[in-house]
Amino acid sequence: MKSFYLTTPIYYVNDAPHIGHAYTTVAGDVLTRWHRQRGESVWFLTGTDEHGQKVMRTAEQNNVAPQAWVDRLVQEAWKPNWTALNIANDDFIRTTEARHTERVQKFLQSLKDAGHIYAGKYEGPYCVGCEEFKLPGDLIDADGQKLCPIHSKPVELVNENNWFFRLSAFVEPLLEHYRKNPDACQPESARNEVVSFLEGGVSDLSISRSTFDWGIPVPWDTDQVVYVWFDALLNYATAVGLTDAPETEGGKKFAQTWPADVHLVGKDILRFHAVIWPAMLMAAGLEVPKKVFAHGWLLVGGEKMSKSKLTGIAPSDITDHFGVDAFRYYFLRAIPFGSDGSFSWEDMSARYTSELANDFGNLASRLAAMIEKYCEGKVPAKATDAGLSAALTSTVEKADAAMVALDFQGGINVVMDFCKKVNGYVTEKEPWILAKDPVNKAALEEVLYNTAESLRALAVLLHPVMPATTEILWESLGANATIGSLADQQISKVAQWGQLPEGTLVTKTPVLFPRLEIKE
Ligand code: MSP
Repeated sequence: MKSFYLTTPIYYVNDAPHIGHAYTTVAGDVLTRWHRQRGESVWFLTGTDEHGQKVMRTAEQNNVAPQAWVDRLVQEAWKPNWTALNIANDDFIRTTEARHTERVQKFLQSLKDAGHIYAGKYEGPYCVGCEEFKLPGDLIDADGQKLCPIHSKPVELVNENNWFFRLSAFVEPLLEHYRKNPDACQPESARNEVVSFLEGGVSDLSISRSTFDWGIPVPWDTDQVVYVWFDALLNYATAVGLTDAPETEGGKKFAQTWPADVHLVGKDILRFHAVIWPAMLMAAGLEVPKKVFAHGWLLVGGEKMSKSKLTGIAPSDITDHFGVDAFRYYFLRAIPFGSDGSFSWEDMSARYTSELANDFGNLASRLAAMIEKYCEGKVPAKATDAGLSAALTSTVEKADAAMVALDFQGGINVVMDFCKKVNGYVTEKEPWILAKDPVNKAALEEVLYNTAESLRALAVLLHPVMPATTEILWESLGANATIGSLADQQISKVAQWGQLPEGTLVTKTPVLFPRLEIKE
């Protein structure tokens, strides 16, 4: 079976991760968890981009050899960060690993042999922050200096004999590809940008550098190293066995995963992914990715948050206060995927309190407390509420359609609307009043059963977004013992009403979203 294969960008290890990096990876994690719960075979890749001048210079500034520097950052900062955020990636690729460097060299040699690579001279501006050859029109003028618009730093002039990739030969095939497959680049604004960029004409690309050596040697000219982006883009394919013979393990993995279903990227690196990368694949006669999705930036003071501008917020600054699951929830819930968004403590606190603590957390703790008090801690006999059950069916349909279209905000919203509806149901039925008169026992039990069932469904639907909290809820509902593990619950079956068996032992939940400490 072909796996649903999703990748994040591989991150530069010149510094520790900030919440902009976490935003992409969390989105990838939520989407792949959702697809797993759809019963699909999934492969989720992330990793680190370790070559190039940016990383090399940072290592030099810290008086450490580049390899030692990247080893340290990966082990001490990047991998622990993903573990802390509960990221369930299937693989982690580092571009300094032999499995990558060897396959890059093989791939490059095959492009050379097929006539796609030639020797030339590059002369022009280069931004080390972007690791990108710039066009004069890309730059901004500041007091006679040319600055990169993304990093607001001066570009450097490069004048080198390099190897070039015949990128210009792929302009027409790429335009044709995007005409035929509008979904291959999303959102629409991103596709329009790529198409107009292509229509403006594209020059061939310098794919090697000769003035430093922190990179993969060009196999036929070892005085040159491969241009860091050419090396980095290939990670998506080298990690799953590119260039390996079909009968080998790598070859089989490649057949199972390629083409990638979604490359998640920030909009700053869209052109690399929607122009250069598919052209490289076309040159090699390989299938191009099914979708490149460019999301927006997290902004600070109206500008892209970045470590180089000292505006980077570490994920732990937020998770220490709000917890990991609220972090995972907030950015996807608050910002339409594809648009820029600003982070504010006030907005996050407000949503935490109203949506997570009040609407969701309180519902769970009230239900557990009432089942304990009125039903001896056992789920009462099965019942159905037509309104809730119909609402759940339409919630699941809408949420699934939104999530697979990467509309995280839309998907989470419909689930949270269902949560509100359940709260409304409880408020309307007033089980605490029913409990006052034994005559109402059956009515009371119905309300509690329906609420418990609704929470069962909410746990499943919110599991990809908030895996740890929903586990606590699942355990409290006694569902592990009776229905099975939460991660195994299928989206297609969530709406089947009546899954919690009568008599299931419910235990009081610890508070799912504790009251926030006042932050000075
Ligand atoms: N190494 C390259 C990617 C190579 S992929 C073959 C790179 N690395 S990066 O570490 O600078 O950034 C990677 C990604 O982090 C960005 O594309 C984006 O997905 C994410 N973000 C970095 N800063 C961000 C924000 N301020 N906001 C949202 N996402 C941001 O580029």
